[in-house]
Amino acid sequence: MARNTITYACQQCGASFSKWAGKCDDCGAWNTLAEERKEAPAGPGKRVIGRRISLEPLHCLTKKSDLPSRMQSGITEFDRVSGGGLVPGSATLIGGDPGIGKSTLLLQLTCKLAGAGLKAAYISGEESADQVRMRAQRLGLANATVELGTATNASDIAASMDGPDKPDIMVIDSIQTMFLPSLDSAPGTVSQVRASAQELIRSAKNNRVALLIVGHVTKDGAIAGPRVLEHMVDAVLYFEGDRSHHFRILRSVKNRFGATDEIGVFEMIEAGLAEVPNPSELFLADRREDVTGAVVFAGIEGSRPVLVEIEALVAPSSLATPRRNVVGWDTSRLAMLTAVLEARCGVPLSGRDIFLNVAGGLKIHETAADLAVAAALISSVTGRPGPQRTVFFGEVALSAELRQVAQADARLKEAAKLGFENAVLPCPRKAAKKVTGIKTAQPKTLGELIEIMGGIS
Ligand SMILES: Nc1ncnc2c1ncn2[C@@H]1O[C@H](COP(=O)(O)OP(=O)(O)O)[C@@H](O)[C@H]1O
Ligand SMILES: [Mg+2]
Ligand SMILES: [Zn+2]
Repeated sequence: MARNTITYACQQCGASFSKWAGKCDDCGAWNTLAEERKEAPAGPGKRVIGRRISLEPLHCLTKKSDLPSRMQSGITEFDRVSGGGLVPGSATLIGGDPGIGKSTLLLQLTCKLAGAGLKAAYISGEESADQVRMRAQRLGLANATVELGTATNASDIAASMDGPDKPDIMVIDSIQTMFLPSLDSAPGTVSQVRASAQELIRSAKNNRVALLIVGHVTKDGAIAGPRVLEHMVDAVLYFEGDRSHHFRILRSVKNRFGATDEIGVFEMIEAGLAEVPNPSELFLADRREDVTGAVVFAGIEGSRPVLVEIEALVAPSSLATPRRNVVGWDTSRLAMLTAVLEARCGVPLSGRDIFLNVAGGLKIHETAADLAVAAALISSVTGRPGPQRTVFFGEVALSAELRQVAQADARLKEAAKLGFENAVLPCPRKAAKKVTGIKTAQPKTLGELIEIMGGIS
């Protein structure tokens, strides 16, 4: 006997609970639990007899010509992040804050794919057809052969992926507006978002349509966020960036058909999103050499080296608990680094406010940034700029020893390409390969880094 039970689902992470609570036990978010009706599964004693499934040999897929070919848009930054083009029958989730540019990106993408001779459909559940047309006009894409639909019924949309005139690519903008009529709950709830996505993904897989699902990142608990879908899709791309900057970064956090942590960099201009083929140039554009507390980090984002400026400001604090304000890096990593600098090297940081900022709105996830952050902190404390035309990278251990990080060569080459002349990186066990045009300094410990920075006095 099917029973209707009430559960409480966290709209942020999708965890479900039998009792309401102010805080989600799973992800720790506050005020995100919302009531949801759930069809209880058929009880014991009601076994459903399954049908035999059909199996097929693996080897028939090894003929090159039978393999699904990837659909490339020609927007290089997108194609790389997607792992080399969209795969037929795959589902990709594009998450991001409202207004960050998801609709713009996907409209540009579908127009490009349609221009390449593919059949692309754009389904908007948020905007009217005229609103989408107006955007297309602004982006100079008014003549694109994209097919436009406005619908929110996920069963209807799933049915439209079938048939002889089925699309090759379909965009759903956004999943939070979609609903299945068979479900009681309102669009945007965890159960509607999941059930609609499941229906759409099932149909996309059966009909070999590349499905792109837009999911708004939500701040309050009223609407389910894209995280509740992450496990259902083949690839998860997040579109991030600071709204006050015009850079936008598309990052793959999951990809069954490609590398994760790959990034694509775009710039929001009047005519839409423009590709940024060399992000280092852009991130360093406003840089001045002689500023205290600012150093350049040679990072790796996905398969690509990216140079970015890290700024630190250490200032006397009037608060009992000094401020630790971090933009673009991990707050707990900063806490660890300040503790090591203070306890092992005597750099006076406790009782002071620390502001740390990664320029350009980039979010850094690498521990290789430790050394650059340490150098920026030391420079701010001493009031002396770091060495000129220099990049920094390396990991710091709790013992204040420095550890090597992967792809040192790629980082050094990128630095040389952008006119840097020096690099500070951890001392290797075996001699590092020379990169033309770059002189290296290789400290073993944070103490030696402090010497390179001119000491603390
Ligand atoms: N008329 C306009 N001229 C220039 N930029 C615009 C215009 N209208 C919207 N935008 C830009 O496009 C952004 C909205 O992008 P959109 O693709 O709708 O975001 P999302 O789909 O992620 O909510 C706005 O933040 C704004 O910067
Ligand atoms: Mg939108
Ligand atoms: Zn949660």
